[in-house]
Amino acid sequence: MFAADPYGACAALRAKGAVHRAVAPDAEPLWLVTGYEQVRAAAADPRLALDKRHARSRGAAGDSLPPELDAHLLNSDGADHARLRRQAAAALGPRRVAGLRGGIQRSVDALLDPLAERGRADLVAELAVPLSMAVICDLLGVPAAHRVDFRAWTDTLLSPDPGAPARSREAMGAMHGFLTDLIADKRAAPADDLLSELIAAVPSGQLAEHELLAAAFLLLFAGYHNTVGLIAETVLTLLTHPHHLAAVRTGDLTLGAVTEEVLRRDPPALLAVRRFPTEDLDIAGSRIATGDRVWLSWAAANRDPAAFPAPDTFDPRRQGPPHLAFGRGPHFCPGAALARTENEIAVGTLLRRFPRLALAAPPETLPRLRSLRSRSLTALPVTL
Ligand code: HEM
Repeated sequence: MFAADPYGACAALRAKGAVHRAVAPDAEPLWLVTGYEQVRAAAADPRLALDKRHARSRGAAGDSLPPELDAHLLNSDGADHARLRRQAAAALGPRRVAGLRGGIQRSVDALLDPLAERGRADLVAELAVPLSMAVICDLLGVPAAHRVDFRAWTDTLLSPDPGAPARSREAMGAMHGFLTDLIADKRAAPADDLLSELIAAVPSGQLAEHELLAAAFLLLFAGYHNTVGLIAETVLTLLTHPHHLAAVRTGDLTLGAVTEEVLRRDPPALLAVRRFPTEDLDIAGSRIATGDRVWLSWAAANRDPAAFPAPDTFDPRRQGPPHLAFGRGPHFCPGAALARTENEIAVGTLLRRFPRLALAAPPETLPRLRSLRSRSLTALPVTL
């Protein structure tokens, strides 16, 4: 039910309360939190740990990465998390993002140039995917000759189908091999990039060898897929709201405001990473025991009518509390500025270059991932 219609399912649940007993695809029980106030508070609550060693049952650690990729930000808390976070935050800070702007613009121009003559395009395959991949590769310093199509790997990892565990292991193995080779190459020939910086932090003890691999994996995975989703959803939303599209074209509405409302209404990451209480706690009257698995739904929180009146309506001029698409608290997405920048450059350039841009298929027929974590568009056919 959730994968087919996450927002309908969330609205039905929310009507019954803010916290729910549910069962994960691996048949383990969990708590699903859907109210805006409760999700917002829980995301920043230090009693809800991400390190899966706090899970009561081994199975409950379920939706996690294999052990060799465990030592990353989204599986750590407290001092360990703060140490790992310093590096990621510095590497993705305003100076680095400002420095990437020119490269992002060049990538967008190069991707749009050949489309102009064709008059038709799939903006997922021909803009969002290659752009997002190019930016992460530039950031990490993956040389052009070594760029591989990691779209297939990440799509497999997000796939909900029953054959997925074996294929997920295979995809994970491929990513692991790719990153191990890449780290070895960088070590031999360091350059001015994020991976070289992370490698340089190993000898001084700021980063352990296994944390280096896990950090590179997380940046590749977390940085790529969600950005593809945001770019595609922003274009689709504007094309299905011609009024707002016209206002963007005349300069009466900023792409920044559009981006924030797309992030609220259709957050690319539907769910937070699983959390485990380190002590018994109470959320909205539900008693949650130490070590239980807790899922926070960004998607449900962002459409809670108590926080956002008429939550299903796209209203880029709405005032209200901040959306939770990038999370909250100590794990707040350090790539938020980069994702916003990529989206605004990609969509802004597309609109400037193609004044007649239109959808080439009815919006309700467009294919999407059907996963509990993501409902990103997998194709966006347009005429130019
Ligand atoms: C639209 C695009 C993006 C969205 C919606 C998004 C969303 C999120 C969310 C919700 C979290 C918090 C997860 C939780 O607390 O359970 C997160 C964390 C993270 N994101 Fe993003 N992200 C995006 C883009 C990026 C990019 C471009 C990068 C890097 C290049 C990135 C790197 C990370 C990392 C490293 C973390 C872990 C932070 C920590 O645990 O301290 N993300 N992201």
